[in-house]
Amino acid sequence: MARFKSLCTTEENCEKLVRDISTIIDSDNFLSLVDFYTPYTPTRLKIALDQYQIDGDVNKLEEEIQARYLYDSNISGNIIVKDYPPLVHIELSPICNYRCKFCFQQDEEHFKDMDFMSLDLFKIIIDQLEGNVPYITFSNRGEPTMNPHFIEMMEYCRGKFLDIKINTNGSLLTRDKIESILNTVNTLAFSVDSVKEYSEYRVNGNFERVMNNIKLVHEMRKPHHNIVTRVSGVYCGQEDDSKYFDQYVDQTSFIQYHPWKEIYDLPTHQSKVLCTEPFYRMYILYDGSVNSCDVDYKAVIGKNFPKISKDMSVKDVWKSHELSRIRNMHMSGKRSCIYPCNKCPFPEAAG
Ligand SMILES: C[S@@+](CC[C@H](N)C(=O)[O-])C[C@H]1O[C@@H](n2cnc3c(N)ncnc32)[C@H](O)[C@@H]1O
Ligand code: SF4
Repeated sequence: MARFKSLCTTEENCEKLVRDISTIIDSDNFLSLVDFYTPYTPTRLKIALDQYQIDGDVNKLEEEIQARYLYDSNISGNIIVKDYPPLVHIELSPICNYRCKFCFQQDEEHFKDMDFMSLDLFKIIIDQLEGNVPYITFSNRGEPTMNPHFIEMMEYCRGKFLDIKINTNGSLLTRDKIESILNTVNTLAFSVDSVKEYSEYRVNGNFERVMNNIKLVHEMRKPHHNIVTRVSGVYCGQEDDSKYFDQYVDQTSFIQYHPWKEIYDLPTHQSKVLCTEPFYRMYILYDGSVNSCDVDYKAVIGKNFPKISKDMSVKDVWKSHELSRIRNMHMSGKRSCIYPCNKCPFPEAAG
């Protein structure tokens, strides 16, 4: 079971895009992108190329292609560790208003004393990431739009990154929140898995309310908003309703259900296959603590990692002895000596 196999509806041809870009910028290494690109790469390259046609900014195009190269290269097992990861996930809220059937939020006990990320900590993190990390995602263990400072947070990070992504269940959007998202976010993913069986999977969810919000986003969205919208579902064997969403969003994609909430009870494996998670992304949790994988929702792997603060930078943590040790163990075939990497449902996957 591969970690990132998704049925993306993007139809852009990556090879052609890379060829077109190679006539504009002079750089060797990105050409190998065509050998190992990830599902979203063609969309990003198309956006960058379209932008270049408008502003003629070669540096911006080059920045995108280098960032994409670093990201895709690491996912594919061609490891390149720089001072910062190409992608950082920021957990605005570990708390959620849903209890989806397949989600670790069903583990009520684990999440009961958690809080939202403070605006102060958020600003410290954004200041450190700006100019150093190209891609950020507001998604980890809970529902990001629940954070009481959500709108201020969107405003604070506006225009500071190449791609800002958010995953949301879409249930708590208001006109103001949508406005702030449209003006800041470049990839908006609504987590919806089904039309008829919606509430069976999305426990506490109301399909009509979420659909109204998706339609509202569609209605409020204007050509100057630099955003791709997507319905992204978890495939658990339900009927394929993806066509239903085509008129409201740009893309639909489904990822396979993964046994996340049972991870700590899965059988131990002896895999030596390197997992690329700790090499290309970092998860900053609501209180500044850090983890290197989202399968490990109890953040056991990161329990000894330093915490991000005014005095401890993202770079320091990324290059820290503790995080380097995890990467070295993966590199030297000792993945099965790390708990819960030795319980991971993707023992054979490079990423
Ligand atoms: C944990 S949620 C957090 C963000 C937000 N609450 C949402 O649902 O989009 C992040 C993503 O993980 C997906 N997800 C949750 N449980 C999953 C599972 N067991 N297997 C695969 N994906 C899962 C969700 O559908 C969502 O797209
Ligand atoms: S998948 Fe998202 S919406 Fe559903 S319970 Fe998990 S965090 Fe909440």
